[in-house]
Amino acid sequence: MDTRWYGRRSGKKLRPGRQALVETLLPKIRLKVPTGGRIGSLADCFPHAPKDVWLEIGFGGGEHLAAQARAHPDIGFIGCEPFVNGVASALTLVEHDGLTNIRIFDDDARLILDALPDASIGRLFLLFADPWPKRRHERRRLVSGNTLDQFARLMKDGAEFRFASDHMDYVRWTLEQVLRHLSFAWLVCGAGDWRQPPPDWIETRYEAKAFRRGENPVYLRFFRRPRAAAADEKPLL
Ligand SMILES: C[S@@+](CC[C@H](N)C(=O)[O-])C[C@H]1O[C@@H](n2cnc3c(N)ncnc32)[C@H](O)[C@@H]1O
Repeated sequence: MDTRWYGRRSGKKLRPGRQALVETLLPKIRLKVPTGGRIGSLADCFPHAPKDVWLEIGFGGGEHLAAQARAHPDIGFIGCEPFVNGVASALTLVEHDGLTNIRIFDDDARLILDALPDASIGRLFLLFADPWPKRRHERRRLVSGNTLDQFARLMKDGAEFRFASDHMDYVRWTLEQVLRHLSFAWLVCGAGDWRQPPPDWIETRYEAKAFRRGENPVYLRFFRRPRAAAADEKPLL
């Protein structure tokens, strides 16, 4: 897998308060990954064993991650984001709300996928991921055969992979990649279903930006097929 990083790692200089959080709070809640190894139990990464662990890749400023963590205090959340200004913004929310159920991996998510245990994740969010619109950059997209293989390995049977985007080419690309993968099923309840966010949806910053531009995002919910059933499936595409 090509894990070169093409995005931004930092933006404007952090304000002193945020810089202090990066230096003091982040080391306490950073997800530590054994070099070349696999984390034994995700429950041990949290102060209280969570009922389930959900993963958000590319949390931006952490608004969605923090809101989910507030709404589900019994769930442990792992958020991945290499952009330090986004991480700092998420840390302000963690501190302000006293959220103890968030762990942060402040790097490229693809670098921890290998370290996550099999069937350990109950929900995976990939929301408004960078679309890399130029054809020659498509290979940089997070959704790929390799990452889907990893998602399939680390997601529990029946776990949800939630994807949203306002970039129609990325939506088509994702549908094509996921429907070709035997481990996932797309649950559509009717025409136009993908135009409506799921009932427990929390608006993200990039989604709000899309609305301001007058664009309508697409919401896709895929489910990890039970491992035994997936073995008998044929690709839909
Ligand atoms: C367009 S922003 C969307 C942020 C947020 N999800 C939202 O909807 O407001 C995409 C984010 O994904 C992050 N990102 C891109 N590639 C990533 C990767 N491989 N691992 C983790 N985060 C990534 C970027 O740094 C950026 O913050």
